[in-house]
Amino acid sequence: MSKLFSPIKLAGLELANRVMIAPMCQYSAEDGCMTDWHMTHLGMLANSGAAMLVVEATHVERHGRITHGCAGLYSDANEAAMERVIRHCRRIGTAKMGIQIAHAGRKASAQRPWEGGGPLKADDPWQTIAPSAIPFGEGWHIPRAMTLDDIVRVRDAFVESAKRAMRIGFDLIELHYAHGYLAHSFLSPVSNKRTDQYGGSLENRMRFGLEIARAVRPVVPKGIPLGARITGSDWRDDGLTADDAVTYSKALKQEGLDFVDISSGGITADTRNPAGLGYNVPIAERVKREAGIVTRVVGLIVTPEQAEAVIAEGKADMVALARAMLNNPRWGWHAAAELAAEVPRANQYLRVGPKMWAPAASRARA
Ligand SMILES: Cc1cc2nc3c(=O)[nH]c(=O)nc-3n(C[C@H](O)[C@H](O)[C@H](O)COP(=O)(O)O)c2cc1C
Repeated sequence: MSKLFSPIKLAGLELANRVMIAPMCQYSAEDGCMTDWHMTHLGMLANSGAAMLVVEATHVERHGRITHGCAGLYSDANEAAMERVIRHCRRIGTAKMGIQIAHAGRKASAQRPWEGGGPLKADDPWQTIAPSAIPFGEGWHIPRAMTLDDIVRVRDAFVESAKRAMRIGFDLIELHYAHGYLAHSFLSPVSNKRTDQYGGSLENRMRFGLEIARAVRPVVPKGIPLGARITGSDWRDDGLTADDAVTYSKALKQEGLDFVDISSGGITADTRNPAGLGYNVPIAERVKREAGIVTRVVGLIVTPEQAEAVIAEGKADMVALARAMLNNPRWGWHAAAELAAEVPRANQYLRVGPKMWAPAASRARA
């Protein structure tokens, strides 16, 4: 019996299996509004066999977007455009739909990856904000250190976006607290040099993220899972470690969050993540064990056997895959066939049974 394809209940949400599709920016929105690209992209992934599809980092204010092409939930137009896409995915797909809400902080005002991925120059750049006026890397915009009013405004923007997400009818909300974006840059001592109640000790650096969690929780009904993607490591001697991830996860649990997703890296332009398969798994294992919160893990989880082992060995409760799903949008079907399990399939596709995808093992036996 596959553990990867066993169901899990998250708050009031029943998920058919433990395979999630990680949020992936598409840089294809217009002033934050999703477009036809998203209809096709998300529509395709909604029929992957994964129990949950998490929509890309969706920004809570216009200047909180990474690029001009990033999705937002800061206007009625954004909400209407996203509602159209999500309604479509629900009608045609089998996955439950989640959303990641985010603020890019000092990594905002950037070019789309295929335009270079660096800071915007001529093309309508904007003033970025951060805990401290320290740029993300050489040549990047110098952010303005946030005032206490800015902190309140951004917190309230998270709440407003969460309300919009609830109106759209999402099944799950994930706060983006990783990858060097605003909340992560408050938590990390590398980017936060404040001397007020939001800087200095870990307790102070956690405050921004915890206050957002506390403000968002009441607008997300109890049955709907609310979680956060956090940093397992900054991969630098002067940065966050797995110990910090454990402490932060405990504190987020206390705020009523239902799960954490363990990712890592991205705090400065010159840090690199390890390249090994499942590089965040040992950190997730510690968080799951020591913080006692439902734990999802992401990062170079590629093969069905690898994903199965993570769950079967109790190292995480769920896995999230990003690039492997872009590479093979039926990853869930194929993995289920390999592991002799079932996945939900759209009626139109029922004739493609598991036997169509001869598992490697049975091929070898034949
Ligand atoms: C095209 C692309 C867009 C991404 N956008 C986001 C995003 O919106 N939010 C986020 O937290 N991570 C984002 N990521 C990171 C992935 O969610 C994931 O954490 C990372 O790719 C590692 O997982 P993988 O090895 O399965 O790809 C993105 C990755 C890719 C490849």
